[in-house]
Amino acid sequence: MIVIKDIITLKQQLNNNRKTNKSIGFVPTMGALHAGHISLIDESNAHNDVTVCSIFVNPTQFNNPEDLKKYPKTIEADIDKLEKANCTFLFLPEVDEMYQTGETIEQYNLGNLETILEGKYRPGHFQGVCIIVEKLLNAVEPDVLYLGRKDYQQCMVINKMMSDKKMTTILQICDTVREDDGLAMSSRNMRLNQVERKQALRIIESLKLIKDNIKQGDITELKKRSTFFLETNGYKVDYIEIADAETLALQNEWDGKRKLVALVAAYLNEVRLIDNIVL
Ligand code: PAF
Repeated sequence: MIVIKDIITLKQQLNNNRKTNKSIGFVPTMGALHAGHISLIDESNAHNDVTVCSIFVNPTQFNNPEDLKKYPKTIEADIDKLEKANCTFLFLPEVDEMYQTGETIEQYNLGNLETILEGKYRPGHFQGVCIIVEKLLNAVEPDVLYLGRKDYQQCMVINKMMSDKKMTTILQICDTVREDDGLAMSSRNMRLNQVERKQALRIIESLKLIKDNIKQGDITELKKRSTFFLETNGYKVDYIEIADAETLALQNEWDGKRKLVALVAAYLNEVRLIDNIVL
């Protein structure tokens, strides 16, 4: 694997590959890599000649400076995992490679995606995601971008940004990778102690409670039941919501036909966990 720290070298290397018609898959990450990320690398390798992974802890998407400080950094282990997964290029820029002082920052029109769910609880987060993903896509110019469905709303936000910008890159959304017991893989799981790790299963259980009990008609009571389940298990719940799987419009009633997704974000002590399941 070739490690590159600047955009000019990255572009040169990738242009050499493009000249010989090689297809390029791209997996953007913030590091602290786990099997979920590696499954995206595998997916990219299976369908492309070249795979680029980026590791960049993007400061503009952290609305909470403490969260940015605490974000796990495991670069040596990450490089090792990427080597073993046969990733072709690792793009590893410093902050000043991605952000110039005094640069004008664009405001993206994200519609309702900006104000609901993660948007409501992490103001500015998706603007920061769009800024960096657009910069990374402009640097890599991949044929295919691979993202994990665990960040359901992020996938929709990036999809909107890419289609508003008329980008030709294809967005491939891949299934959430879970531990054997069902916990969605996340870099934040590293911050859970042994007791919390067991308690963390209540997150997927709160979603299964919805999946197993949803019926046509009013669904507000079911959301309350699921919220109560988490609260009585020691969580501070930001939201448990049921939304249209295509638009993410929040729903209080179900016609029995519309494709829905249940989404949760809740704190287990200091660690904020998110997950979702399509119903
Ligand atoms: O999901 C992430 O890890 C980040 O939000 C992303 C897409 C790499 C942008 O910084």
